[in-house]
Amino acid sequence: MKDILEQLEQRREDARLGGGQARIDAQHGRGKLTARERVDLLLDEGSFEEFDMFVTHRCTDFGMQDQKPAGDGVVTGWGTINGRLVYVFSQDFTVFGGSLSETHAQKICKIMDMAVQNGAPVIGINDSGGARIQEGVASLAGYAEVFQRNIEASGVIPQISVIMGPCAGGAVYSPAMTDFIFMVKDSSYMFVTGPDVVKTVTNEIVTAEELGGAVTHTRKSSVADGAFENDVEALAEVRRLVDLLPANNREKPPVRPFFDDPNRIEPSLDTLVPSNANTPYDMKELILKLADEGDFYEIQEEFAKNIITGFIRLEGRTVGVVANQPMVLAGCLDIDSSRKAARFVRFCDAFEIPILTLVDVPGFLPGTGQEFGGVIKHGAKLLFAYGEATVPMVTVITRKAYGGAYDVMASKHLRSDFNYAWPTAEVAVMGAKGATEIIHRKDLNDPEKIAQHAKDYEDRFANPFVAAERGFIDEVIQPRSTRKRVARAFASLRNKKVQTPWKKHDNIPL
Ligand code: HXC
Repeated sequence: MKDILEQLEQRREDARLGGGQARIDAQHGRGKLTARERVDLLLDEGSFEEFDMFVTHRCTDFGMQDQKPAGDGVVTGWGTINGRLVYVFSQDFTVFGGSLSETHAQKICKIMDMAVQNGAPVIGINDSGGARIQEGVASLAGYAEVFQRNIEASGVIPQISVIMGPCAGGAVYSPAMTDFIFMVKDSSYMFVTGPDVVKTVTNEIVTAEELGGAVTHTRKSSVADGAFENDVEALAEVRRLVDLLPANNREKPPVRPFFDDPNRIEPSLDTLVPSNANTPYDMKELILKLADEGDFYEIQEEFAKNIITGFIRLEGRTVGVVANQPMVLAGCLDIDSSRKAARFVRFCDAFEIPILTLVDVPGFLPGTGQEFGGVIKHGAKLLFAYGEATVPMVTVITRKAYGGAYDVMASKHLRSDFNYAWPTAEVAVMGAKGATEIIHRKDLNDPEKIAQHAKDYEDRFANPFVAAERGFIDEVIQPRSTRKRVARAFASLRNKKVQTPWKKHDNIPL
């Protein structure tokens, strides 16, 4: 018996070494943690339970039968984050470069199936040279099995990808179908075709980091939702995010203890909006002042900064925030901000996370760039996302809510539950100057008359009361009491239920 126990320990020891000490040292030398170190940091201490530690590949080509490291390049299993169940896989670059074989894929599929069955998030840590070249089509089939599971799990359990090394070719499409992608700066990259192929085909000379690094994907492409300095920071931030999310689409997010009075009054908010309607102010200040303990988890912070998306807690409960940012492009909606916010709204709706919308929007950004780029279709994504959402929705208009953008930003007409406005709100078809130049075109040569017309228009429409008279605004509230009003509104909506007509699925303008 003792022998058998010792043998087991020995086999475990060997498996834990992955591709061997030299390769582990090389991994560390690049500033990267090993697959197991990452799992340990991600999960609560001592909570990890491993599956399939002794699985080996079945390939016999190219001398592979002589190299069969236990685990086959991926560490899989389950554990907890702040006491809540999650499933995890972590690719081991020290074993055949973390490349995906048939059996490696089967290990990932096994934990994905368990996660869906048991209603818990999946977190995938990617560090891989892609398809196991020695296995050919068996490896491609393995990828497709993972893809299919990503699709089926979408909207059922949260799926999070952390890119901590190479992720190239078709391999990128599994993370691409998950809910969030996080990357580590300078040690991870994602691209469909690498720098060498790019050079051959398009003659562009570009480094891997420029083509698909964390900065590129968080600022330019918006493929990734966050970029972090190193593995440790990235994993700590994933823990923070998981703590905000429900385990699955039938559960509510966890309620955490809070030490911030929901009735807290913030007098400074009374002067947040500048007296000149064209002067910007920082919408993040409002978000931080509304949130429990001023804690805001921002998603896609570096992309389309004219709209802000992320999570706060109110009375310990997660709320998704979408807010126009007047500091960037005057808070206009455009292609990028519409796409960014639409995806966020749909995530919240899929996972029963209430949505708070803070509005200061002068309209859609004009220009050929926008029109040729399809702003009609992209803007419609956000409109569609809000209109189909059935989670509790509270909207606060702080200043401008002009034109179509007024409708889009969780207006009453899209079934938002509470629509509040600050006294500084201006709900109108457009700004006074633009409106005057159209309806009083004949007076364009008379600056005095135009100024008078603009003032008349402003007096009539540059306020929240015309909308409030029609019931499109439920109440005009004091800025200082916004946290209290919003928290009470969400509290009243906790049992909200909406019936929608049967359909197979909608046809959101993609
Ligand atoms: C088998 C692989 C491998 C792979 C790396 N290795 N990629 N083994 N299949 N795909 C092995 C290497 O042989 C090496 O083994 C070890 O992993 C580390 O690799 P290095 O090249 O030494 O590391 P590094 O210099 O850091 O370069 C990493 C790399 C490079 C950029 C990822 O290895 C590389 O270009 N690999 C091939 C990438 C690729 O073409 N993959 C297939 C893409 S097609 P030893 O024993 O020396 O340590 C694809 C399709 C997916 O993925 C389709 C899905 C639908």
